[in-house]
Amino acid sequence: MTPTPLVVRLRPIRPDDLPELRAGLRRLSPDTRFQRFHAAIDDLSAAQWRYLTDVDGHDHVALVACTEVPLPGLPTGSIVGVGRFIRAKDDPTTAEIAFVVYDRVQGRGVGRTLRDALVVEGRARGIAIFRAHVLASNVAMRRLLHDGALELLGERDGALDVALEPRLRRAG
Ligand SMILES: CC(C)(COP(=O)(O)OP(=O)(O)OC[C@H]1O[C@@H](n2cnc3c(N)ncnc32)[C@H](O)[C@@H]1OP(=O)(O)O)[C@@H](O)C(=O)NCCC(=O)NCCS
Repeated sequence: MTPTPLVVRLRPIRPDDLPELRAGLRRLSPDTRFQRFHAAIDDLSAAQWRYLTDVDGHDHVALVACTEVPLPGLPTGSIVGVGRFIRAKDDPTTAEIAFVVYDRVQGRGVGRTLRDALVVEGRARGIAIFRAHVLASNVAMRRLLHDGALELLGERDGALDVALEPRLRRAG
Protein backbone atom coordinates (compact mmCIF):
# COMPACT_ATOMS: atom_id res chain seq x y z
CA MET A 1 0.00 0.00 0.00
CA THR A 2 1.33 3.47 -0.88
CA PRO A 3 1.91 5.56 2.27
CA THR A 4 -0.23 8.69 2.63
CA PRO A 5 1.65 11.71 1.34
CA LEU A 6 2.64 14.07 4.12
CA VAL A 7 1.73 17.72 3.58
CA VAL A 8 4.60 19.94 4.63
CA ARG A 9 5.32 23.64 4.45
CA LEU A 10 8.74 24.67 3.23
CA ARG A 11 10.63 27.69 4.47
CA PRO A 12 14.25 28.87 4.39
CA ILE A 13 16.41 27.54 7.21
CA ARG A 14 17.18 30.01 10.03
CA PRO A 15 20.04 30.16 12.54
CA ASP A 16 17.54 29.63 15.38
CA ASP A 17 16.59 26.22 13.89
CA LEU A 18 19.90 24.90 15.19
CA PRO A 19 18.68 23.33 18.48
CA GLU A 20 15.79 21.55 16.74
CA LEU A 21 18.03 20.33 13.93
CA ARG A 22 20.64 19.14 16.41
CA ALA A 23 18.03 17.13 18.32
CA GLY A 24 16.72 15.82 14.99
CA LEU A 25 20.18 14.63 13.95
CA ARG A 26 20.47 12.61 17.15
CA ARG A 27 17.15 10.90 16.43
CA LEU A 28 18.12 9.81 12.91
CA SER A 29 18.66 6.11 12.42
CA PRO A 30 22.27 5.05 11.86
CA ASP A 31 21.38 4.19 8.27
CA THR A 32 19.88 7.60 7.50
CA ARG A 33 22.85 9.35 9.11
CA PHE A 34 25.27 7.29 7.10
CA GLN A 35 23.38 7.87 3.84
CA ARG A 36 23.40 11.63 4.47
CA PHE A 37 26.89 12.19 5.90
CA HIS A 38 28.68 9.01 4.78
CA ALA A 39 29.89 8.70 8.37
CA ALA A 40 28.47 7.56 11.71
CA ILE A 41 28.25 11.03 13.20
CA ASP A 42 25.83 12.10 15.93
CA ASP A 43 26.75 15.76 16.24
CA LEU A 44 28.60 18.49 14.38
CA SER A 45 30.97 21.20 15.57
CA ALA A 46 29.64 24.68 16.35
CA ALA A 47 31.28 25.94 13.14
CA GLN A 48 29.65 23.19 11.05
CA TRP A 49 26.22 23.93 12.54
CA ARG A 50 26.68 27.62 11.85
CA TYR A 51 27.68 26.85 8.26
CA LEU A 52 24.59 24.70 7.75
CA THR A 53 22.05 27.03 9.39
CA ASP A 54 23.32 30.56 8.69
CA VAL A 55 23.13 30.53 4.90
CA ASP A 56 23.16 33.38 2.38
CA GLY A 57 20.18 32.18 0.31
CA HIS A 58 22.10 32.58 -2.96
CA ASP A 59 25.22 30.41 -3.03
CA HIS A 60 23.87 28.30 -0.22
CA VAL A 61 20.13 27.68 -0.20
CA ALA A 62 18.63 25.48 2.51
CA LEU A 63 14.96 24.73 3.03
CA VAL A 64 13.32 22.99 5.95
CA ALA A 65 10.11 20.98 5.62
CA CYS A 66 7.74 21.56 8.53
CA THR A 67 4.66 19.52 9.44
CA GLU A 68 1.29 21.09 8.71
CA VAL A 69 -0.57 18.77 11.08
CA PRO A 70 0.51 17.35 14.43
CA LEU A 71 2.02 13.87 14.36
CA PRO A 72 2.43 11.77 17.52
CA GLY A 73 5.14 13.50 19.55
CA LEU A 74 5.63 16.18 16.90
CA PRO A 75 3.69 19.44 17.16
CA THR A 76 2.58 21.26 14.01
CA GLY A 77 5.49 23.16 12.52
CA SER A 78 8.12 20.60 13.52
CA ILE A 79 11.00 20.16 11.10
CA VAL A 80 10.93 16.73 9.41
CA GLY A 81 13.32 17.28 6.53
CA VAL A 82 16.04 19.51 5.13
CA GLY A 83 17.19 20.02 1.56
CA ARG A 84 20.03 22.25 0.46
CA PHE A 85 22.36 23.14 -2.34
CA ILE A 86 25.76 24.79 -2.12
CA ARG A 87 27.32 26.38 -5.18
CA ALA A 88 30.69 24.94 -6.19
CA LYS A 89 33.61 27.32 -5.69
CA ASP A 90 35.17 26.41 -9.05
CA ASP A 91 31.97 26.46 -11.11
CA PRO A 92 29.14 28.88 -10.31
CA THR A 93 26.66 26.87 -12.41
CA THR A 94 27.13 23.67 -10.39
CA ALA A 95 25.87 23.11 -6.86
CA GLU A 96 26.09 20.19 -4.50
CA ILE A 97 22.67 19.07 -3.35
CA ALA A 98 21.82 17.07 -0.24
CA PHE A 99 18.69 15.99 1.59
CA VAL A 100 17.66 14.40 4.80
CA VAL A 101 14.12 13.36 5.67
CA TYR A 102 13.51 12.10 9.19
CA ASP A 103 13.03 8.35 9.37
CA ARG A 104 9.45 8.34 10.59
CA VAL A 105 8.19 10.26 7.55
CA GLN A 106 10.43 8.85 4.82
CA GLY A 107 8.67 7.57 1.71
CA ARG A 108 5.78 10.05 2.02
CA GLY A 109 6.84 12.58 -0.59
CA VAL A 110 8.76 15.03 1.62
CA GLY A 111 11.95 14.47 -0.38
CA ARG A 112 10.10 15.09 -3.65
CA THR A 113 8.61 18.32 -2.26
CA LEU A 114 12.05 19.55 -1.22
CA ARG A 115 13.59 18.51 -4.55
CA ASP A 116 10.97 20.36 -6.60
CA ALA A 117 11.49 23.53 -4.57
CA LEU A 118 15.28 23.30 -4.82
CA VAL A 119 15.09 22.88 -8.59
CA VAL A 120 13.06 26.11 -8.80
CA GLU A 121 15.44 27.91 -6.43
CA GLY A 122 18.49 26.57 -8.29
CA ARG A 123 17.23 27.67 -11.70
CA ALA A 124 16.45 31.13 -10.33
CA ARG A 125 20.06 31.40 -9.10
CA GLY A 126 21.78 30.27 -12.30
CA ILE A 127 22.47 26.69 -11.26
CA ALA A 128 22.55 24.31 -14.25
CA ILE A 129 23.83 21.14 -12.59
CA PHE A 130 23.12 19.55 -9.24
CA ARG A 131 25.81 17.19 -7.99
CA ALA A 132 24.88 14.64 -5.35
CA HIS A 133 27.16 12.30 -3.44
CA VAL A 134 25.08 9.16 -3.34
CA LEU A 135 25.96 5.72 -2.05
CA ALA A 136 25.34 2.91 -4.51
CA SER A 137 22.78 1.41 -2.11
CA ASN A 138 20.71 4.60 -1.84
CA VAL A 139 17.70 3.71 -4.00
CA ALA A 140 15.45 6.48 -2.64
CA MET A 141 17.97 9.26 -3.39
CA ARG A 142 18.62 7.85 -6.85
CA ARG A 143 14.91 7.80 -7.59
CA LEU A 144 14.61 11.32 -6.27
CA LEU A 145 17.16 12.46 -8.86
CA HIS A 146 15.65 10.46 -11.72
CA ASP A 147 12.75 12.83 -12.08
CA GLY A 148 11.35 13.85 -15.46
CA ALA A 149 12.39 17.46 -14.87
CA LEU A 150 16.04 16.44 -14.41
CA GLU A 151 18.46 14.65 -16.70
CA LEU A 152 21.21 12.36 -15.51
CA LEU A 153 24.48 13.59 -17.02
CA GLY A 154 26.78 11.04 -15.45
CA GLU A 155 28.23 9.54 -12.32
CA ARG A 156 31.83 9.37 -11.19
CA ASP A 157 33.21 8.14 -7.87
CA GLY A 158 29.76 8.30 -6.28
CA ALA A 159 29.10 11.87 -7.47
CA LEU A 160 26.00 11.96 -9.61
CA ASP A 161 25.35 14.97 -11.87
CA VAL A 162 21.88 15.97 -13.04
CA ALA A 163 21.02 18.84 -15.37
CA LEU A 164 18.32 21.36 -14.53
CA GLU A 165 18.29 23.23 -17.83
CA PRO A 166 16.74 22.01 -21.12
CA ARG A 167 19.71 23.47 -23.08
CA LEU A 168 22.11 21.14 -21.30
CA ARG A 169 19.75 18.22 -21.70
CA ARG A 170 19.59 18.70 -25.48
CA ALA A 171 23.37 18.97 -25.66
CA GLY A 172 23.49 15.61 -23.90
C1 LIG B 1 16.60 10.06 0.17
C2 LIG B 1 15.49 10.78 0.92
C3 LIG B 1 15.86 12.25 1.05
C4 LIG B 1 14.19 10.66 0.10
O1 LIG B 1 13.18 11.37 0.76
P1 LIG B 1 11.76 10.69 1.05
O2 LIG B 1 10.85 11.73 1.57
O3 LIG B 1 11.98 9.48 1.86
O4 LIG B 1 11.35 10.24 -0.43
P2 LIG B 1 10.00 10.46 -1.22
O5 LIG B 1 8.86 9.87 -0.47
O6 LIG B 1 9.88 11.88 -1.62
O7 LIG B 1 10.28 9.56 -2.49
C5 LIG B 1 11.31 9.86 -3.43
C6 LIG B 1 11.50 8.70 -4.36
O8 LIG B 1 12.19 7.65 -3.67
C7 LIG B 1 11.40 6.47 -3.64
N1 LIG B 1 11.60 5.89 -2.32
C8 LIG B 1 11.33 6.45 -1.12
N2 LIG B 1 11.70 5.61 -0.14
C9 LIG B 1 12.20 4.52 -0.75
C10 LIG B 1 12.76 3.32 -0.28
N3 LIG B 1 12.87 3.06 1.03
N4 LIG B 1 13.19 2.42 -1.18
C11 LIG B 1 13.10 2.66 -2.50
N5 LIG B 1 12.59 3.79 -3.02
C12 LIG B 1 12.15 4.69 -2.14
C13 LIG B 1 9.99 6.94 -3.86
O9 LIG B 1 9.20 5.92 -4.41
C14 LIG B 1 10.20 8.08 -4.82
O10 LIG B 1 10.44 7.62 -6.13
P3 LIG B 1 9.40 7.95 -7.32
O11 LIG B 1 9.29 9.47 -7.34
O12 LIG B 1 10.08 7.37 -8.50
O13 LIG B 1 8.12 7.29 -6.90
C15 LIG B 1 15.24 10.17 2.32
O14 LIG B 1 14.87 8.82 2.19
C16 LIG B 1 16.43 10.28 3.25
O15 LIG B 1 16.56 11.27 3.98
N6 LIG B 1 17.33 9.29 3.23
C17 LIG B 1 18.50 9.31 4.14
C18 LIG B 1 19.46 10.45 3.82
C19 LIG B 1 19.89 10.41 2.37
O16 LIG B 1 19.99 9.37 1.76
N7 LIG B 1 20.15 11.59 1.79
C20 LIG B 1 20.58 11.65 0.41
C21 LIG B 1 22.05 11.77 0.27
S1 LIG B 1 22.51 13.48 0.41
